[in-house]
Amino acid sequence: MPLSENWTYKSHHSPYKPNMTDKLAPIAAAFQEALSQATHTKELEAVKVRFLGKKGEIQALLVGLKDLSGEEKAQVGKGINELKQSLTQEIANAEARLVAQEEQAALASSWIDVTLNPQGQEAGSLHPITLVHQRLEEIFEAMGFLILDGPHVETDYYNFEALNFDPHHPARDMHDTFFTQGGRLLRTQTSPIQIRGMERLKPPIRMVGTGKVFRCERLDASHEACFHQIEGMMIDKGINVGHLIHTMKVMLSEMFEKEVEVRLRPGYFPFVEPGYELEIACLLCGGKGCAACKKLGWVELLGCGMVHPNVLKAGGIDPTVYSGFAFGMGTDRLAMQRYQINDIRHLHNGDLSFNRRFSTASQYQVY
Ligand code: PHE
Repeated sequence: MPLSENWTYKSHHSPYKPNMTDKLAPIAAAFQEALSQATHTKELEAVKVRFLGKKGEIQALLVGLKDLSGEEKAQVGKGINELKQSLTQEIANAEARLVAQEEQAALASSWIDVTLNPQGQEAGSLHPITLVHQRLEEIFEAMGFLILDGPHVETDYYNFEALNFDPHHPARDMHDTFFTQGGRLLRTQTSPIQIRGMERLKPPIRMVGTGKVFRCERLDASHEACFHQIEGMMIDKGINVGHLIHTMKVMLSEMFEKEVEVRLRPGYFPFVEPGYELEIACLLCGGKGCAACKKLGWVELLGCGMVHPNVLKAGGIDPTVYSGFAFGMGTDRLAMQRYQINDIRHLHNGDLSFNRRFSTASQYQVY
């Protein structure tokens, strides 16, 4: 309701103190004027301070009351209070209106359609490492393996101790890692997933897990401080090296869609005994030698071996009853071989046109 209809302090209503009540009408008029000009909540706030603030016009009137006699005080005071209430109500109404207006304006000017491509570009695509992980998981799922996951920030126990690395064993030197202040570390390998898996599952166990791992590496064409691995494990009664070799062959020939040349060398990992390193003839240079294979012609693809009895015990499995194999493979180099990428640093530089080369249209994802 406009103030003019509401307020009652025109001078003729106040015979006792015309001077005092005369002040109300101009204030009311000035308020209406200021209110009509406030088109934003910030301006409205200024109007509120001017009229209703601690040093505002209404307060000044209330202070002036002290000079009046009792009867006048009551009458004029009542008038001031009614004016105050009226102004307060009008401010509140205006505020509600302006806030709603501003919200509408903000919605109209800053809405985004989250289903649209950023900056009108093409949709994103799956990274070559993701494609390799998805393919590997498919291959293993088809062989009855469970797909597990594990945390990037690990404890010393899961990353080393339960995997049969003694506290001061030199094998730890190969896993120069990043420690957090609480004594945790960024996992250096996906092998902690073996322990976490054994803790939760009972043999027979077939499991794989893929993910990021971290080591303090010097960067070059084939080394990054953050890279990726797939880990796998099979545990049952009577598992032997034959099961390991067969499973690796199936995985690699499915992955590369052809028979690849492989060789096994003895390799040391504290959590397997015996342990091997499996290498394939470099698919980039056909075995002649290039930057990706360090001119060797062979690319070390994975570590593997028979699970060490101490590791089975750490996983709550009786090594006198069960045996198993385990393997771990860097998937960055696998992706490089698979997609003929000659420098690992391409994989992390966030270049979308690079990533898109490896996705087919059907693999495009809209986020
Ligand atoms: N975790 C080993 C590494 O990162 C690889 C590995 C896994 C070797 C399982 C043997 C068995 O080097």
